[in-house]
Amino acid sequence: MIQKNFELTKITPINSSITKLAFHAPEIANSVLPGQFINIKVDETTVPLLRRPFSVYYVQENSVEIVFGVMGMGTKKLTLKKIGDMLDVLGPLGKPFNVSDNEELSILVGGGLGTASLPLLQKHLIQKGKKVVTFLGARTKEYLLSSYLTDVRTATDDGSSGYHGTVIELLKHFLFENKKKNCKIYACGPTPMLVTLTNVTEEYNIRCEISLETAMACGFGICQGCAVELKNKEVGFALSCKDGPVFKSNEIIL
Ligand SMILES: Cc1cc2nc3c(=O)[nH]c(=O)nc-3n(C[C@H](O)[C@H](O)[C@H](O)COP(=O)(O)OP(=O)(O)OC[C@H]3O[C@@H](n4cnc5c(N)ncnc54)[C@H](O)[C@@H]3O)c2cc1C
Ligand code: FES
Repeated sequence: MIQKNFELTKITPINSSITKLAFHAPEIANSVLPGQFINIKVDETTVPLLRRPFSVYYVQENSVEIVFGVMGMGTKKLTLKKIGDMLDVLGPLGKPFNVSDNEELSILVGGGLGTASLPLLQKHLIQKGKKVVTFLGARTKEYLLSSYLTDVRTATDDGSSGYHGTVIELLKHFLFENKKKNCKIYACGPTPMLVTLTNVTEEYNIRCEISLETAMACGFGICQGCAVELKNKEVGFALSCKDGPVFKSNEIIL
């Protein structure tokens, strides 16, 4: 885990509320695994006091990219950064997706900004020689984050791109047509999407890992502020920052 100031090298507005930032950080670019995150101090002052967690969206040429939407003060302050500013970053943090399973087909599922953890994951899966198909869902086509991803099927709430409906409905059609495949699903998105997905994976008996975006404070296991309830009542709970953010979908209670 590294804590260091890194220079902001690129700012790319994706749409009116989503921005992509890149910063030069060889130490993180060369060590981060898919599903891990970084914790950014968005301002030199104590307002906001806590760092904000973001998935590593992509890495290339010693550069790390994140994409984020404006939620509140922290992300608003991030949008005010300029090229050349220094970003105080802690990371990489958390447990990554397990890309060592021997599935015949890897299925990636992203909802909204949850898509942010998928491009790096797809890169690692393809490097391992796996066949990958990706399902993305968003409100409208402007919110679909398909950069760096291949073999993408989309679903939008308003029907402006791909299937008119939810990404899980689209996934269900696919699973119904391909039910003999040895699949594994990797997903990140809003909790209601993950709840529905977990039900579907149980119905089809498919292995599934999900990445949670539980609100966090320290990001590395000190504050106990990111507890997730486990199905195993003897253990009780896990910390999303340290034991996750990636969990097997059948291990946790959403
Ligand atoms: C491991 C991890 C990876 C993440 N990756 C990304 C990413 O790649 N891109 C991205 O845009 N966001 C990501 N997030 C969410 C991001 O951290 C929050 O949106 C951000 O911290 C909000 O900060 P803020 O100061 O702008 O808003 P705040 O002022 O802190 O919050 C504004 C509102 O959003 C709610 N909120 C804050 N955080 C969350 C959360 N995690 N889940 C649900 N509601 C929340 C608050 O309750 C409040 O209502 C990730 C979160 C985690 C834990
Ligand atoms: S955020 Fe502090 S323990 Fe997880």
